[in-house]
Amino acid sequence: MSEKKSYGLLKGKRGIVFGPLDESSIGWQIALSAYGEGATLAISNVQIALRVGKVMELAKLCGDAPVIACDATNNEEIDAAFKQLKEEFGPVDFIIHSIGMSQNIRKSLPYEALNYDWYLRTLDVSAVSLHRILTSALKNDAIKNGGSVVAMTYIAAQRNYSSYSDMGDAKSLLESIARSYGTRLAERGIRINTVSQSPTYTRAGSGIENFDKMYDYADRVSPLGNASAEECGDYVVTLLSDLTRKVTMQNLYHDGGYSSMGMTIPMLHLFHAALQNEELAKEAGL
Ligand SMILES: NC(=O)c1ccc[n+]([C@@H]2O[C@H](COP(=O)([O-])OP(=O)(O)OC[C@H]3O[C@@H](n4cnc5c(N)ncnc54)[C@H](O)[C@@H]3O)[C@@H](O)[C@H]2O)c1
Repeated sequence: MSEKKSYGLLKGKRGIVFGPLDESSIGWQIALSAYGEGATLAISNVQIALRVGKVMELAKLCGDAPVIACDATNNEEIDAAFKQLKEEFGPVDFIIHSIGMSQNIRKSLPYEALNYDWYLRTLDVSAVSLHRILTSALKNDAIKNGGSVVAMTYIAAQRNYSSYSDMGDAKSLLESIARSYGTRLAERGIRINTVSQSPTYTRAGSGIENFDKMYDYADRVSPLGNASAEECGDYVVTLLSDLTRKVTMQNLYHDGGYSSMGMTIPMLHLFHAALQNEELAKEAGL
């Protein structure tokens, strides 16, 4: 296998990645890409994920990166994490938020029958946690002036994807928090962006109803095909590098062109042909 090319884009930079669980995780691939580009890393996840996931393996692959246990919905744990991070590294150059979870999706509850305790938990874990992390990083002086923050999101923040359920609301909130915090972070030259990624087979992703069909549809409609987690890692590295100093408060699509597409001619023909089959059309609810 050929060695992956490194441009040294993050040489001398230090950062923390919240959310890698196993090699399928987007956060895992971001960590590997950032390390490959010369960054020094710390990795964080909730205690339970450190036990059931493969985080220690990732830490080894990233030059024995320190692993920091932290529930991103718990202010005390976040503060303790940034204190520990500062002791290890001093203030960091970048923070990655790659965290998401919906109990309503896990339990396949329809949007019209959400469990509201779980709904609030979805918003807290998947969106408010970004606010908590930023607030704690600033309070603890744990991020450098001129730093960069990236949070992972999905196009269901802008469009209706029925099976994405309460995660669509969480992603809208996440993107809004990135904008609202953007001006405040900019006072210190810190930029913040959300990256809207293609459907990706991960633990969180695969739990979504009809995920395989969503994946397949997006892959066929996107002119460049779905973007993989590895490709996402490479893209995110550019946003952490000095080459993107004036990019902030953006929601950036990393999706093979999917977000700019309407319909493709082959899909149009397929749809039309399927509609001629009355039984099939009825079964699909059309
Ligand atoms: N998989 C996709 O199709 C897809 C597409 C676009 C965006 N995203 C986003 O990418 C990000 C990463 O998800 P993924 O798909 O790699 O799945 P993943 O399951 O690998 O990662 C989600 C992580 O969130 C962590 N987490 C859950 N609760 C937490 C808490 N309280 N505190 C700290 N961490 C917690 C989990 O332990 C897990 O490591 C999420 O924001 C997700 O919504 C995923």
